[in-house]
Amino acid sequence: MSQEFARAVELLQACELVAFPTETVYGLGADAANPEAVAKVFAAKGRPADHPLIVHLPGAAYLDRWASGIPDVAWELVEAFWPGPLTLILKRTPEVPYAVTGGQETIGVRVPAHPVALELLRTYAQAGGSRGGMCGIAAPSANRFGRISPTTAAHVRQELGDSVALVLDGGQCPVGIESTIIDLSRDGGLPPRLLRPGHISPEQIASVIGVLPALPEAGIGVEVPRVSGALEAHYAPQTPMRLVATEQLPAVIGEMHENDRRCGLLSRTRQALVLMSHSQRQLPDEPKGFARGLYAALRELDEQGNDLIVVENVPNDSAWAAVADRLRRAARGSAETDFHHL
Ligand code: TXA
Ligand code: MG
Repeated sequence: MSQEFARAVELLQACELVAFPTETVYGLGADAANPEAVAKVFAAKGRPADHPLIVHLPGAAYLDRWASGIPDVAWELVEAFWPGPLTLILKRTPEVPYAVTGGQETIGVRVPAHPVALELLRTYAQAGGSRGGMCGIAAPSANRFGRISPTTAAHVRQELGDSVALVLDGGQCPVGIESTIIDLSRDGGLPPRLLRPGHISPEQIASVIGVLPALPEAGIGVEVPRVSGALEAHYAPQTPMRLVATEQLPAVIGEMHENDRRCGLLSRTRQALVLMSHSQRQLPDEPKGFARGLYAALRELDEQGNDLIVVENVPNDSAWAAVADRLRRAARGSAETDFHHL
């Protein structure tokens, strides 16, 4: 593998794209300090250029090259959760190109906790890193804009084909959904804002800094930063997808049968296991296991020629919040509205 890391670094330094595994999902990596390399990421994903990218760092020691005015609460979170699935939004330094921040004065940064990602970042830093020795790799999830994030190397190839020069294969991502994003970019970092729920919960954050981060409320005078993960329609399959409560499953699936429609079911409880859908994926009935398998299961159901993907809804409690968030956006982003016209 060490030759592969050397090759990956050469490619990054030559302004090419390299996909790599993180503990959350696979990222599509580029030299974060080079606007030309960053432009290739937007082109490959089909993503609007005003959506900022997360910059991945080899360690917390690199943070002050990218962020300025770093509040104490940020250092406390770094100490507690890095390397790990937590992205911090902070004020950028003047060296950070606007290409990577989507034109904003803030920057999203994290140190990933995957051995392949860390080895890549460290090899990169040892080789002098990126332009100006900044040593950051910009990496959004390695999917086409709005689609399901990849959790295996094969998913990345399906999504991006030849537009990525190299895909480092680290097997299946252990967390399976994207990092928690906390905005600390206001003076003193407080109050912290939760821009995207993830594996690290608001309660865990509060246990470190003593303040519970809240979802920003849209409204007059509240400026919500642009976060593509915050778009109402995102992480979506191409097949129409609907969230259905466990008790409603028999009726919905039965109606599909009567109308000769193919129905794929993503379930988690024993009750749902006995229902007759055309294809079924069962995930563990606990949030961490469910999150780990979620995107691969949606991809499979999406590829099986179903007319509708029915997802057994998850409990409405805080342990399931990150999964519920992704399911809601996936249902909105799917062609469910078209389904009504079938
Ligand atoms: O787990 C993850 O975070 C994965 C892996 C590859 O690290 N990355 C990921 O990247 O999910 P992406 O680009 O698909 O989603 C990152 C989110 C986007 O919604 C982006 O808008 C937001 O982070 N973001 C990045 N910088 C930001 C900033 N300065 N202000 C607000 N949001 C920001
Ligand atoms: Mg994404």
